Amino acid sequence: MNGGRLGWGVAKVGPMAHDPAAEATLQVLRQADPAIAELIAKEAERQETTIELIASENHVSPAVMHAMGTCLTNKYAEGYPGARYYGGCVFHDQIEDLARERAKALFGCKFANVQPHSGAQANTAVFMAIMKPGDLFASLVLKDGGHLSHGMSINFSGVYHKPVHYPLHYAPDHPEFERIDYDAVAKVCQEHKPKVLMCGYSAYPRTIDFKRFREIADSVGALLVADIAHIAGLCATGAHPSPFPHAHIVTTTTHKTLRGPRGGLILTNDEELAKKIDKAVFPGVQGGPLMHVIAAKAVAFGEALRPEFKSYSHQVVANARALAQALVARGYRITTGGTDNHLMLVDMRRKSETLTGADAEKWLEAAGLICNKNGIPNDPKPPRVTSGIRLGTPAVTTRGMTVTEMPAIAGFIDEVLSANGDAAVAAKVRQQVKELCARFPMPGVGGGAVHAGNGRVAAHA
Ligand SMILES: Cc1ncc(COP(=O)(O)O)c(C=O)c1O
Repeated sequence: MNGGRLGWGVAKVGPMAHDPAAEATLQVLRQADPAIAELIAKEAERQETTIELIASENHVSPAVMHAMGTCLTNKYAEGYPGARYYGGCVFHDQIEDLARERAKALFGCKFANVQPHSGAQANTAVFMAIMKPGDLFASLVLKDGGHLSHGMSINFSGVYHKPVHYPLHYAPDHPEFERIDYDAVAKVCQEHKPKVLMCGYSAYPRTIDFKRFREIADSVGALLVADIAHIAGLCATGAHPSPFPHAHIVTTTTHKTLRGPRGGLILTNDEELAKKIDKAVFPGVQGGPLMHVIAAKAVAFGEALRPEFKSYSHQVVANARALAQALVARGYRITTGGTDNHLMLVDMRRKSETLTGADAEKWLEAAGLICNKNGIPNDPKPPRVTSGIRLGTPAVTTRGMTVTEMPAIAGFIDEVLSANGDAAVAAKVRQQVKELCARFPMPGVGGGAVHAGNGRVAAHA
């Protein structure tokens, strides 16, 4: 190894040489199951040599990664700390307690349930806790940036409950074009009297006014649920306003801007709601908790409580702004005119009437730029085609990239798309992407390095 920045990363002996523990795991797998080992090695190589721009993904630290690969997976721990349905849970109780305490400290609230297996599971449990089948709730529809668990007709939320959707501003000449129309939210709520008002989205690039949402919820006696799955890391560090004290209940994933393992989390300040949520998670919608993942959540929350995570989160936002600006300079339209958070929606039509999100996703992947096609508000194209792509900066910021690298990334994107997927151009950009990735290796062991976002490595104890 030539050392990289912290003794890992650039010259390698294997696909995971930046992380000796991961490399050791791979060796075990090579003996036990070469087929799976080979595929994991290939995936490691893919992640290391591509630029991850999917807004909902990130690169976890080795500590988070390896907490998941431990003996904790062997254990059933149905129930909660101090009240389990299985013996032998003494250390699991302590781990779950630590995870809960850290989650509460991170978000500044009184109650946390760390057991949901995913963000959708967290929403399922919350719906079960506070609604009956057939009850009505208000949310943003999927095609405008909401999530499928917010009322899609074939999701549990739309099958067992009645969603009504509030709009964005759709008039291009409106100063708040493509942003939430708060007056319309109030109107929809007055008309339908929902039991629950949901805010928090999968593809919304602007600041959410939680206070305004709470006022609207209060005006109709609804409970406000904020699903901060995308922006959780930003909310925990002041890079986006906190949903507390406004939301009655907060749900989130732990694997996006929060940079933890894949999983869900539910938070509240209300003791009665907390009891209902605990019952709804277990035994309501889940059985045994994934204790190895809960340990990794605890590790991630611990990391997020450190000052360098605050710098990281603010850098994520600065990078998103810089990337959006660089794309605008190259003739692309960013919905709402920009971004306040970690993501942006790029409308392809300004660049070329025939360019679709599906083509862009495919062509960019060939060049090592990973993103997803995404509908833009009022998109005339179907979800498998779309007029846009969604880009996010959590993962590139974890690798240590700053605003300095964003114009280069915008340049790569533009070069590939302007060439209409030409294979030679994609291959040329692929090489440049690999070179950039080599300069900014994935988090690896060597102080448990993850990046503060300023191009320097913040070593953890
Ligand atoms: C707003 C929002 N809620 C919930 C989820 C669901 O999370 P999961 O995929 O962990 O079920 C997502 C995932 O993208 C999301 O964006």
